[in-house]
Amino acid sequence: MPPLLDQSTPRELASLIGPVDGLPTPRYAGLARRIRDLVTTGTLPAGRRLPAERELAAELDVSRVTVASAYRVLREEGFASTRHGSGTVTDLPSAGTRWLPPSSRPGLLDLAHAAPEAAPRLMGAYQQALAALPAQLAGHGYAPGGLPQLRAAIADRFTARGLPTEPGQVVVTAGVGDATAVVLETLLQPGDRVLVEHPTYPGILGLVAAAGGRCTPVPVDPGDPDAIVGAADLAARQSSPRLAFVMPDFSNPTGARLSAPGRRRLAATLWQHGMLTVVDEVAADLHLDDGPLPPFGASLPDAATVTVGGLSKAVWGGLRVGWLRTEATLAAQLEETLGRRQLSIGLLDQLTAAILLGQLDELLEERRTQLRERRDALRAALAERLPDWDVTSPAGGLSVWCRLPADIGSAAVTAAAAPLGLLLAEGRAFGTGHAFDDRLRLPFTRPVGDLRRAIDVLAQVQARLRSGAADGTPARSATVV
Ligand SMILES: Cc1ncc(COP(=O)(O)O)c(C=O)c1O
Repeated sequence: MPPLLDQSTPRELASLIGPVDGLPTPRYAGLARRIRDLVTTGTLPAGRRLPAERELAAELDVSRVTVASAYRVLREEGFASTRHGSGTVTDLPSAGTRWLPPSSRPGLLDLAHAAPEAAPRLMGAYQQALAALPAQLAGHGYAPGGLPQLRAAIADRFTARGLPTEPGQVVVTAGVGDATAVVLETLLQPGDRVLVEHPTYPGILGLVAAAGGRCTPVPVDPGDPDAIVGAADLAARQSSPRLAFVMPDFSNPTGARLSAPGRRRLAATLWQHGMLTVVDEVAADLHLDDGPLPPFGASLPDAATVTVGGLSKAVWGGLRVGWLRTEATLAAQLEETLGRRQLSIGLLDQLTAAILLGQLDELLEERRTQLRERRDALRAALAERLPDWDVTSPAGGLSVWCRLPADIGSAAVTAAAAPLGLLLAEGRAFGTGHAFDDRLRLPFTRPVGDLRRAIDVLAQVQARLRSGAADGTPARSATVV
């Protein structure tokens, strides 16, 4: 007996679809596109049983063939599937994002990656770590779970932020993404659902797909970040995800930040629905306008969340040190998964990270000053050169999220910018399915001069696209951090 699925009534779905007269032609394709957009934005969750063709046709006042053809297109595109006993059910195609290493070609403007250059203090920390290395050389050099002093320093930092933590609750990983991968590898079964923000960090889409899971996207509104609480509640009722992946502080790519009550409510909601939440704090310390807010899981049992963090944005992506923090038994289980894959994280990197944690407050202050200046310069350049772009005003993080004018698409902009030496990550990389071709993420992680040059190029690209001088043939961009 297949599990009972929530069904959209013909009336509910018809009201989401809106007037069919306004749909692009041919009508079945316009209808399929409209339903696909509802699925990719999370308005119509994946896993929803669609009404019978005849009933929806009657409600929309179109022929049954039109609805049947629209459902067929959705199935062909992976946005619906036929389930025995359940009819046609909404679905999401597996995510597929490629990774290209950042290019070092001279003069190339790389805004495909939201990753700043190394913090100036890094070299000094490496040198100190090198000086401390001889004391380690007589031992075997493996530190499963992390060097004791590093685990203790990470635990102390959590405790100071309001999340009391023992070193045994911390596991050191090879970066933030690695920490998330360990959680999925340990806890996700094929077919399980993972609630994700939408748009979201592309890495999570790839990790979920690789683990055989399916994403349940929940819309993020940078203008009203706490609205995600109600949307997540609804999505959880409809598709019962096992895990959630959230970025409460300066979500990638929107820069949205949950308020203190908002994060408390979201944490409680996800927990009540039985989800374990992976809380990605990669940008949590990059608050540029206001101070820190309480950690996401502060009001819940330790077992409700796995908080993942690291040094890749504050210090450097080349320093492969991150961590996870959760309840001690689960931490031990996750450490075991990690140990099967790699016995230990490099000792020199761990020593360096421990040294950097000792000066993290000063280092962060410097990073924030730099990012503040860059963010403001980027926004000013956009306002001057591309005034019809609608640009978010994030209070932290690493990027702005732009809504493009209706006549140009993100994939076309990305394709037309590349030959001019500007690398971008197109909007669709941040979504499931085909969503977000009307958006572009622009990181403010390069020096001010580079950002201004990049906006000059974008202004040129826009003019060329509008005049027909640039082809802008869409190609899914390689990316993305
Ligand atoms: C939200 C988010 N999580 C994780 C990562 C990956 O971090 P790391 O390089 O530490 O694996 C990134 C990189 O951009 C990110 O934006």
